[in-house]
Amino acid sequence: MKKILLAPSILSADFMKLEEEIETVADMSDYLHMDVMDGHFVQNITFGPDLVSRVARKGIPLDVHLMISEPSRWIEKFADAGSSIITIHVETDVHIYKTLTAIKDRGILAGVSLNPGTSPERLNFLMDVVDLILIMSVNPGFGGQKFISSSVEKIARVQKMVEKSGRNIIIEVDGGVDHSTAKIVCNAGADMLVAGSAIFGKENRKEAAKAILASCSC
Ligand code: DX5
Ligand code: ZN
Repeated sequence: MKKILLAPSILSADFMKLEEEIETVADMSDYLHMDVMDGHFVQNITFGPDLVSRVARKGIPLDVHLMISEPSRWIEKFADAGSSIITIHVETDVHIYKTLTAIKDRGILAGVSLNPGTSPERLNFLMDVVDLILIMSVNPGFGGQKFISSSVEKIARVQKMVEKSGRNIIIEVDGGVDHSTAKIVCNAGADMLVAGSAIFGKENRKEAAKAILASCSC
């Protein structure tokens, strides 16, 4: 059975005590998921490269999800900040192949994300450059939303595309992932799960993370 990667999303953490919050999930984080929002591509504003570089000092690999317009303008800054993965939205960049290449040139995994209403066909002609495909299972912008069930079919379709490519591309799912939806997305082909409220919204984060991963293996 393949190992499912877990990326707790700090969007649902208490920012007033962010360092402590990160420490509560450090042991079970393959990556820490950091949602960068610009109030333009999505209706929310979070943080920029300065916070990413401070968090990078904790030594947990960072999965940086850029929900921003014109992401190409920011790749250098987020690369310098210590990102391990940088994911951009296919809806935000007309020169996406070029931007993904720029991310890879920095030795960082290059991810591309699809909104719930975006077809996986948008990934055609990117399969030779992309390292990770992030399927949004809620509309991007906020934590704690309900899982959109049509994402399951999309995951399965993307999984077939990945298989056909013969490349080792990670399929990541973000939004509404908890112990009940985790099993469904894993069965459909997910390799990596983002969980915000299902982890930081719980008193016992370790138990919450374990419950999510356990449901993937049954
Ligand atoms: C939403 C973000 C997600 C968010 C997920 O736009 O991209 O990463 O933190 O939160 P939950 O897991 O609560 O749906
Ligand atoms: Zn995210």
